[in-house]
Amino acid sequence: MILKISSITRVGLILLLLMSFTAFAQNTHFNKISFVNLAFNVASAQTQQMETHVQNTLQVAGKDAQKKVKKQETDGHSQPKYDIINDKFKDLGPGNNTLKFIIALVVFLLAFWAVGKMKGKVKWLAVIGVLLALGYISKITYTEARALGRQQGYAPVQPIWFSHKIHAGQNAIDCEYCHSDARSSRYAGVPSLNVCMNCHIQVKEGKVSGSTEIAKIYEHLGYNPTTMQYDKPGKPVEWVKVHNLPDHVYFNHSQHVQTGNVECEDCHGPVEEMDRLVEYNELAMGDFCLKCHRETGIDKSNPYYKHYKFKDMKKDDKITVDKIGGTDCSACHY
Ligand code: HEC
Ligand code: HEC
Ligand code: HEC
Ligand code: HEC
Ligand code: HEC
Repeated sequence: MILKISSITRVGLILLLLMSFTAFAQNTHFNKISFVNLAFNVASAQTQQMETHVQNTLQVAGKDAQKKVKKQETDGHSQPKYDIINDKFKDLGPGNNTLKFIIALVVFLLAFWAVGKMKGKVKWLAVIGVLLALGYISKITYTEARALGRQQGYAPVQPIWFSHKIHAGQNAIDCEYCHSDARSSRYAGVPSLNVCMNCHIQVKEGKVSGSTEIAKIYEHLGYNPTTMQYDKPGKPVEWVKVHNLPDHVYFNHSQHVQTGNVECEDCHGPVEEMDRLVEYNELAMGDFCLKCHRETGIDKSNPYYKHYKFKDMKKDDKITVDKIGGTDCSACHY
């Protein structure tokens, strides 16, 4: 029957399949990678950023590798049990739609077949089935296509288990104690291990991980906690970067933290509740950057704005970021 349908429908079907196929790409969730991602990632690995994705993907793609990740998750053998993504942050991002997609596709094909074969009421039921399945496939395609190149929900395993919940939450350490560059430079930066040692020269054990994780700090620094000497060669920690804007976007922390008085949490979410760091917001041009720029007022007490002349505006009017050029393409793209 499928062979008998009109050529337009056939082209439509093939297009739909192709679209849906590409839409599965770029699901960067470390443990939610689908086989199809690999194909797409390899095909579109143009930028350096994409190449890192591919490396990450290659590490976990393939049946064996996927099994291994599952096993690590369940028995916590090589990945410790305490290294968790908190429940609250588990479902961020597009998630894994592979199974849902396959089921919808099967329903679609069966119903499509039934439309041609059946008569009367059953035929109409099948028509409804086709439409529903098509709707659902379109929804998945939209979700996946929207997430292309973005990484909401990305939460890579880090070389040392570092819990923001324990440090920024329970022990209330200020974000800028560790990310001290955020106020003054483009990058917030990740602290060097010397900063950890301000406390961990004393704190040698944690309640959750015992001495296992803190020992890694010592190991990387070549520090011997019994003799209190740095007597071995150290090696740098390779933290995995969680937030990655494309190279064609300019983003500056000091512009927001110092000049704009924007809180870290407005962009990074409730970091102080995270045991493993997760990219909380979808770093999208429209729904994230521009939306805030259209809604948020600038700090008018900033002396710099005394020299600004705002057209048709009263003294007390709120001046949103877009009025000072925050929606000009060249502010963010150069
Ligand atoms: C004791 C030091 C320390 C404190 C305090 C701290 N952080 Fe961090 N932060 C780190 C380290 C180390 C990393 C890298 C490891 C990781 O990603 O988990 C990191 C990573 C991050 C990242 C991810 C960076 C990336 O790779 O994209 C964000 C965002 C972040 N911190 C925000 C915050 C915020 C917001 C606060 C305050 C609520 C805070 N941090 C407090 C040490 C700290
Ligand atoms: C206006 C939104 C916004 C605010 C406010 C903000 N960040 Fe970020 N942050 C980002 C974006 C976007 C990135 C990704 C930058 C990139 O990939 O170039 C990022 C990246 C980071 C990183 C990774 C390293 C780096 O500098 O690229 C850390 C760490 C971080 N932020 C911590 C913080 C802390 C701590 C604060 C508060 C003091 C903060 N951020 C405030 C949006 C924000
Ligand atoms: C301002 C002090 C301070 C700084 C700086 C600091 N820590 Fe901690 N850290 C603590 C305290 C206090 C604990 C103990 C928490 C507890 O009671 O388990 C701790 C616990 C830990 C633990 C064990 C958690 C557990 O419960 O098993 C690890 C791992 C750790 N820190 C890593 C780091 C790393 C990596 C850095 C540097 C990026 C760092 N810390 C910086 C104060 C600090
Ligand atoms: C939570 C709100 C918020 C978000 C989200 C946000 N910004 Fe901003 N942004 C601001 C504020 C407030 C200012 C104004 C600072 C000032 O007074 O100059 C600003 C200013 C800017 C400027 C300077 C504009 C100019 O003409 O002076 C750039 C560039 C910029 N942001 C880029 C970005 C990018 C890129 C993103 C997304 C990755 C982003 N911002 C997300 C609040 C935000
Ligand atoms: C406030 C910052 C900001 C401004 C202003 C801005 N962009 Fe963007 N743009 C971004 C960010 C962040 C991304 C990457 C995130 C994403 O996928 O949306 C992006 C992505 C893009 C992309 C790539 C989309 C893709 O899917 O890869 C294009 C094209 C683009 N912008 C064009 C423009 C044009 C044209 C303008 C002016 C009308 C503009 N941008 C203004 C922040 C901005």
